[in-house]
Amino acid sequence: MTDLYAVFGDPIAHSKSPQIHQMFAKQTGQDMRYNACQVRAGDFSPAVQNFFHQGGRGLNCTVPLKQLAHQYAHELSPRAVASGAVNTLYSTDGNIFGDNTDGVGLLADLHRHNIAIAGSKIALLGAGGAGRGIILPLLEAAPQCVVIANRTVATAQDLARKFAKLGKVSGGGYEQLQGKFDLIINATSLSLRGDLPPLPDDILAANGSCYDLAYADTATPFVLWGKQHQAAQSLDGLGMLVEQAAESFFIWRGIRPKTQPVLDSLRG
Ligand code: ATR
Repeated sequence: MTDLYAVFGDPIAHSKSPQIHQMFAKQTGQDMRYNACQVRAGDFSPAVQNFFHQGGRGLNCTVPLKQLAHQYAHELSPRAVASGAVNTLYSTDGNIFGDNTDGVGLLADLHRHNIAIAGSKIALLGAGGAGRGIILPLLEAAPQCVVIANRTVATAQDLARKFAKLGKVSGGGYEQLQGKFDLIINATSLSLRGDLPPLPDDILAANGSCYDLAYADTATPFVLWGKQHQAAQSLDGLGMLVEQAAESFFIWRGIRPKTQPVLDSLRG
């Protein structure tokens, strides 16, 4: 029987996840179907219950449901605990497990582009769900420092404090971004509305790179900012999307699909 998977979110029509997982399934010969379902936050619990009750095997959760999925899961992976958010759910013996593959996905895509984290100075723009979701794997990869900048300064300071044991991390407003950074990561939601965070002009190191967690069919304002400021590479988050999907696929099916052909097909 065909195994059923889905992504829940709101809005969801734009999601590339069904396409990505169908390509993974074809490539690895897995008999599975993956649907996109619009689920409002208020309907989340019954929708998840229903899905697993009817034999669903695994779920992805996206905006605005990742925190709800974190609350819903009976058991959490360490990376889901650290990020406070869950993007992958699966059921074993009636227990619902929650994991978060976003951070691993980012690291895999940075690796693909030969962007080193170890020893580098990183500016993280934004301290909301997306920023929180990647801070643990970033710090585990031993950067020289991570400076978190956020419009709401207290949120950046809280996030930095929470992870201070794991490395050199500080938080504040955008004006405290001083000196040069080897990697600037945009984790704000501004790209989605075509805006740019209030970045100082001169903070990208020679040979430094920019990475926008968001992606769009045309270059995001932050990707353009990187190009205008001579970034060695200025990338959007499509690669991260494919890599986090591959990690979810691995959790569910125990097989690692090849990501490059899928990314090529999406870009093509
Ligand atoms: P997500 O889950 O996508 O991270 P979120 O938790 O709402 O969504 O966080 C959005 C991020 O974008 C936050 O860092 C937010 O800053 P605040 O914490 O100050 O809200 C940032 N953001 C959203 N609109 C912004 C704006 N107009 N200027 C600067 N930052 C903005």
